[in-house]
Amino acid sequence: GKGLFTYDPGFVSTAACESKITYIDGDQGILLHGGYPIEQLADKSDYLEVCYLLLNGELPTAEQKKEFVHIIKNHTMVHEQMSHFFNGFRRDAHPMAIMVACVGALSAFYHDSLDINDAHHREVCAFRLIAKMPTLAAMSYKYSIGQPFMYPRNDLGYAENFLHMMFGTPCEEYKPNPVLAKAMDRIFVLHADHEQNASTSTVRLAGSSGANPFACISSGIAALWGPAHGGANEAVLTMLEEIGDESNIAEFVERAKDPEDPFRLMGFGHRVYRNFDPRAKVMKATCDQVLKELGIENEPLLKIAKRLEQIALEDPYFVERKLYPNVDFYSGIILKAIGIPTSMFTVIFALARTIGWISHWSEFHSSPNRIGRPRQLYTGSKKRDYPA
Ligand code: SDX
Repeated sequence: GKGLFTYDPGFVSTAACESKITYIDGDQGILLHGGYPIEQLADKSDYLEVCYLLLNGELPTAEQKKEFVHIIKNHTMVHEQMSHFFNGFRRDAHPMAIMVACVGALSAFYHDSLDINDAHHREVCAFRLIAKMPTLAAMSYKYSIGQPFMYPRNDLGYAENFLHMMFGTPCEEYKPNPVLAKAMDRIFVLHADHEQNASTSTVRLAGSSGANPFACISSGIAALWGPAHGGANEAVLTMLEEIGDESNIAEFVERAKDPEDPFRLMGFGHRVYRNFDPRAKVMKATCDQVLKELGIENEPLLKIAKRLEQIALEDPYFVERKLYPNVDFYSGIILKAIGIPTSMFTVIFALARTIGWISHWSEFHSSPNRIGRPRQLYTGSKKRDYPA
């Protein structure tokens, strides 16, 4: 308001935004979706039910859930011409590059639901994205290994269907291990939404210009790709493999503490959590459960990860800076145990976070809004004349 300090309402509207979807208390390590703690959702719910909750703000009744699952199942195939995009990529293209391209290209196929001011169109786009991300993700993996694309199967659950499209072949049906399928679904739940993180803020800002939802989600995938954000899960595995043996941990911890060394302990720290990331706790328990199920509790990488966590939680450098393991620290070990290659880890994060992105995008367009316009603090040259 007017007075000693005037402010530009436009600045306020871009600097912070209101949302009903997710609440985080970084000091207490609290994460709520529609008021429900992430620990309870991870334990009792499943990914498609959490998708319904994030889109609608309420858990579905049994009837609503049945209808929602039916709708999603009927959108899981992509237009057959989408497969031609893949032929333009080298076989060794990073799957995130393929996802940025293909998800953005979906807007070229679905002209019938691109009116961002029509609530039904917004809902159809959400259904299509939730349903098609696993299909496109699995296609990006199959393309990289020279195997044929697998069509989605409507008799399988969401996570089971994804694993079927990843590991099934026309020659042999993939029979998902229920423990691994449940772990996959739980990883999707734990990554579903996280308030105004870098990629979600990117999607909201892109959405504020009126860009179509598929282009906005593609911008979220691009922002998530960075190793400081969603790319961290891939970077954690690369770091653990580089450490190679518990005897090398101390050297890497010292490097992470050295301000001159750009190396950071991947999977540690967070912009908001100054306490344990509640998702990391669930991820750690799931990791133990999966490796026990597979009889590989002594997986060397898990031992290095646990030793690293113990050292980091005792070392004054990390304790003083409140650096705890985050959601990415254990997820990669589970994904590796399921058989998913490191190059696909961030694609899994993008697949799971799509519901968060599209829920925030829909929320933004469900009420009067203005284009986002972050302001700057100018630190450049003062006004001056061109030399005579
Ligand atoms: C995600 O925003 C979200 O919600 C993101 C996310 C989501 O669900 O969307 O939660 C997902 O992105 C999780 C974060 C994944 N990234 C990583 O694991 C990469 C490693 N982490 C760091 O790059 C870092 O911790 C960030 C990027 C996550 C946070 O960066 P900040 O906020 O700049 O770190 P900070 O302010 O907490 O740092 C305080 C100090 C600094 O040292 P000083 O200048 O005080 O001496 O801690 C240091 C930092 O240098 N520090 C680290 C460190 N993280 C911060 N030192 C060593 N190793 C680390 N991992």
